[in-house]
Amino acid sequence: MLSRTRPVGERFSLKKSSFDVSLFAPFHYLGTQSGTAALCIALRIARQMRSDVDNPEVLMPAYTCPDVISACITAGVTPVLIDFAPDTCHMSLDELSLKCHANTVAIIAINFLGIPERIDQIRSLLNNKKTLIIEDSAQGFPRSDKENYWKGDLVTLSFGRGKPLGLFNGGAVLSRQEELLKMADAFLSSSSKLSEFSYRIKHRVFNMLMSPLGYGLLTRLPGMTFGETVYKPLEKCEHINPTINEYLSARVKDFEQRRVELYDLYNKRLEQLNLSILGSGHSLYEYLRIPVLLPNQSIRNACLEKMDLIGLGATAMYKKILTEFDDIPIDLGDAPYPNASLLAQRLITLPLHQDVSEQDIDEMMAVIEAEVKNAHSLDK
Ligand SMILES: Cc1ncc(COP(=O)(O)O)c(C=O)c1O
Repeated sequence: MLSRTRPVGERFSLKKSSFDVSLFAPFHYLGTQSGTAALCIALRIARQMRSDVDNPEVLMPAYTCPDVISACITAGVTPVLIDFAPDTCHMSLDELSLKCHANTVAIIAINFLGIPERIDQIRSLLNNKKTLIIEDSAQGFPRSDKENYWKGDLVTLSFGRGKPLGLFNGGAVLSRQEELLKMADAFLSSSSKLSEFSYRIKHRVFNMLMSPLGYGLLTRLPGMTFGETVYKPLEKCEHINPTINEYLSARVKDFEQRRVELYDLYNKRLEQLNLSILGSGHSLYEYLRIPVLLPNQSIRNACLEKMDLIGLGATAMYKKILTEFDDIPIDLGDAPYPNASLLAQRLITLPLHQDVSEQDIDEMMAVIEAEVKNAHSLDK
């Protein structure tokens, strides 16, 4: 069998239309070259609003994509890490209130695989402090009801690979307050050139590879490994290329028509194993992949290994917390973040795209069931 189920990535059609400024209404839109640049711009806005603060700090989770650190470094703000509340991907509210000081210019609230942060609760902690809430929604996009999905003062999106609106590049800052976005112009240079011909070829090749057979062949190419998440510096922030803007409307429509029945199937099958989808039970959540906390790291690793052998598209995301990345060029300290570490060790994410079949889900559940049983029998 040559076919394999990929972890992430929907085939999509490229349709051009003039950019619709109301696409993200009621939010105003500012396009950037990437999600990292969008976050950096949002941080620069937060910093500018508090120009009286000498050593601006930003609170953010201890477990997330290292691109968030790149954005902080380029924006000139100091990241302060926060642990999660137990068994969740939400920052601990106690720790947030403990570490939020007069020089905290922003809190980065990260939407994890489609699970939004608890922004209302975070906001109520702040009382009337002047700290901005930046909602990093690179991994989350609503299929309906944009009005109520995002609650941050600034919201950042990514249109990079594997994201809900993946278009290979681009990102955006959104805000209900147009005047906040107007401050950003000074921080952005003009967009890089994009050859439309090579972009269209890239799209065709991507659609070919994002099929069970295409992905199966890709993974069999010698030397083809899908490596670990690494730190990438952000050199500068640019406006989005206008061509990407012209593909956005169709991309949003494609996303809105995504299959949803797989979610219910996963939910049912995981419940039979006494497991659940992380953050499940909220009708507004639009998962990018299915995140599940397995009982411990060795069961998680064994499941990953088996699913990888069969080609079932499971991943462990970042595998470690930010203080464990050797390539991050600033000192994040060596304090423990026990709940974030447990999440990094126990998390498995299962695919949720157009080619996942019921049989794939059955096979994934069989692997999990066998590994949990195996661990129990070894314990005895
Ligand atoms: C939470 C989060 N923020 C920001 C980014 C950066 O987005 P981009 O790859 O478009 O720069 C990512 C990318 O994976 C992400 O997962």
